[in-house]
Amino acid sequence: MTKSHIHTDLPGPKARELLARDALVVSPSYPRDYPFVMSHGKGAEVWDVDGNRFLDFAAGIAVCSTGHSHPAVVRAIKDAADRFLHISSDYWHAGQVELAERMNALSPMKEPVMSFFAQSGTESVEAALKLARYVTGRGRFIGFLGGFHGRTMGSLAFTSSKYTQQKGFFPAMPGVTHVPYPNNYRPLFAGGDQGRAVLRYIEEVLFVHNVPSNEVAAILVEPIQGEGGYLVPPDGFLAGLRELCNRHGILLIFDEVQSGVGRTGKMFACEHWGVAPDIMTLAKGLGSGMPIGMVVAKRSIMQKWSRGAHGNTYGGNPLCCAAALATLDLVEREYRANAAKIGDYFMEQLQLFAAKHSVVGEVRGKGLMLGMELVVDRAGKVPAKTLCDALITRAFHNGLLLLSCGLSTVRFMPPLMIDEADVDEAIELLGRSLEEVLATEHPIARGIATA
Ligand SMILES: Cc1ncc(COP(=O)(O)O)c(C=O)c1O
Repeated sequence: MTKSHIHTDLPGPKARELLARDALVVSPSYPRDYPFVMSHGKGAEVWDVDGNRFLDFAAGIAVCSTGHSHPAVVRAIKDAADRFLHISSDYWHAGQVELAERMNALSPMKEPVMSFFAQSGTESVEAALKLARYVTGRGRFIGFLGGFHGRTMGSLAFTSSKYTQQKGFFPAMPGVTHVPYPNNYRPLFAGGDQGRAVLRYIEEVLFVHNVPSNEVAAILVEPIQGEGGYLVPPDGFLAGLRELCNRHGILLIFDEVQSGVGRTGKMFACEHWGVAPDIMTLAKGLGSGMPIGMVVAKRSIMQKWSRGAHGNTYGGNPLCCAAALATLDLVEREYRANAAKIGDYFMEQLQLFAAKHSVVGEVRGKGLMLGMELVVDRAGKVPAKTLCDALITRAFHNGLLLLSCGLSTVRFMPPLMIDEADVDEAIELLGRSLEEVLATEHPIARGIATA
């Protein structure tokens, strides 16, 4: 059994003191699930202010791709900081050009691309939407139920993984129509191929009855749906979307904010299916923790943006570009392959775990973007949300940081540098946590309640 690294009650005394101060002055809107108060981190390990050590399989919501404070990334940031902290997007600097050149070489588009620089995922999505509108002259968009693209008014118009993200903010940007994301575990449509059914729904229902296809600027989709439940689309779905877009002159935008930069064992998740978008959004893992986002678009598209059409103050910040270049070096050289290899090992361990625990409905994902959906029972597939929340809280108390997604899915998105011993430790802590929860408070786990 893994030795416990938790030496105080959680939250410990120093954490409690900070939480009390925070409650008075920091916005209560953040969706914080349990009281982890960070002191420092190294690789996949983090310590709280009371000296407790945790294994971090949340990685700052899939951001710390190279692990916490990777020396090469820290060095690159320090070197950049010694030169200058900021110059603004009104000027030029080598780091920004180098990063755009790097994307030109790496992108899945198989033709020249250009990049726009942002600070976050949502800002990248906003820019992608504006670009699509600008170049097509069309005002409508199609998004997916369960999708998450951010919380500003344009991206929020698509975001639909939890209704709390929408509640109180209507109206967001108009013109977005949602369609189901294909889900083979919970099929909505008759027939085996949920991907084909969604494509038919768009063309044979939506375009015929409600949304004129020649008014649609773009379809925005996550190649693997993240916050919505770590859903991997059926083979052929993204290729079908690509064909549909080509037929109707609609741009295809892949939101790779969570799935990109090596997380799934390929540089971009869409490469698992060999399908290229017209526009791609990136953020999260790109900067190893530094706030950077990018919109990467075919040059034939982005070069249509005229001077002043879109911009910002901080885009291409030199520290962020330096962090991203160092991150890409590490991911290309080592961590993309590691994510594929350790991801396979992790998936095997999760499948063995699922075989032992009937509350696991499905494990799915690619590379180190893995989800474990919890259900009240396998036949009924009723989502075990209370159990999922309790498990994640218990895992925290046992020294493992996790987050959920969808209704009742535990998601695993550790740094890409983890090894098999880290996976073994996580599985051990997960098993212990699940057994403790099942043994104690949760009737849902025993099938008595369903919510
Ligand atoms: C796929 C996807 N797009 C966009 C975003 C928004 O990113 P940010 O929180 O940096 O605005 C997220 C965040 O989780 C995401 O997962």
